[in-house]
Amino acid sequence: MGRLDDRVCLITGGARGQGAAEAELFAAEGAIVWVSDVLDADGQAVAAKIGGQYRHHDVRDESSWAGLIDEIIDTSGRIDVLVNNAGIFRTGRLFEIEPSDFQEVMDVNCLGVFLGMRAVAPSMREAGRGAIVNISSVAGLNASAGAFAYGTSKWAVRGMTKTAAVELGRRGVRVNSIHPGLIETEMLHQVPGYADSDRMVKRVPLGRVAEAREVANLALYLASDDSSYSTGMEFVVDGGVSAL
Ligand SMILES: NC(=O)c1ccc[n+]([C@@H]2O[C@H](COP(=O)([O-])OP(=O)(O)OC[C@H]3O[C@@H](n4cnc5c(N)ncnc54)[C@H](O)[C@@H]3O)[C@@H](O)[C@H]2O)c1
Repeated sequence: MGRLDDRVCLITGGARGQGAAEAELFAAEGAIVWVSDVLDADGQAVAAKIGGQYRHHDVRDESSWAGLIDEIIDTSGRIDVLVNNAGIFRTGRLFEIEPSDFQEVMDVNCLGVFLGMRAVAPSMREAGRGAIVNISSVAGLNASAGAFAYGTSKWAVRGMTKTAAVELGRRGVRVNSIHPGLIETEMLHQVPGYADSDRMVKRVPLGRVAEAREVANLALYLASDDSSYSTGMEFVVDGGVSAL
């Protein structure tokens, strides 16, 4: 028996990195997995590998959300789990970042998460159950000097998670955030200074970066009934960085 048997799950940004690892793990645990992204070839490859469905879907697009959730409910009968994983990273300090770049980060990382929760909330409320997992970052727990917009967006994800959890809790819908540290994906290599990764990795109490699968394990816990009494909370997977 799998921990997500017959649960209908949507993972945004699931074409690669953490989203792809979550898609693979959820499918292995019995879920009916829908993957969405803007990287179509990679997304289709993930879906083919796990026997899931892939759809092109830009998380900034409200009508795309409506169409996708309608299609999932028409095809699979319901939506049980949403992992708001899609995200982008941009560098730049407060006095360097252009408003257009700030807006771009907020559109993907915040508006996308808001639209996703808003799109699934009606059917989850009606069903009286559901799990939403929002991928924030350790940048949503502490200052993120040098990545002002990214840090701001990840704090917003944390805040939206708490508010949504309180608003949806009475209807059996749980909402939690995950705060990864250094995870070995393409995004990590966009972080300034990562080329000199020894210095960054030395700061991590566990002394290494994580595999995407290690975040997926936490997402599985939060998506499944194993976390049935947890909502509105931050779950950290950072090798101990936040303990410093
Ligand atoms: N890698 C890390 O060290 C790290 C640390 C903390 C948090 N995170 C967060 O984890 C999540 C996953 O990132 P990752 O590490 O797998 O990086 P990644 O860059 O490999 O994956 C991000 C995915 O999001 C997709 N995406 C970007 N914009 C999109 C849009 N507008 N619509 C739909 N999909 C879009 C990308 O195409 C990509 O497939 C992100 O929210 C990221 O901010 C990553």
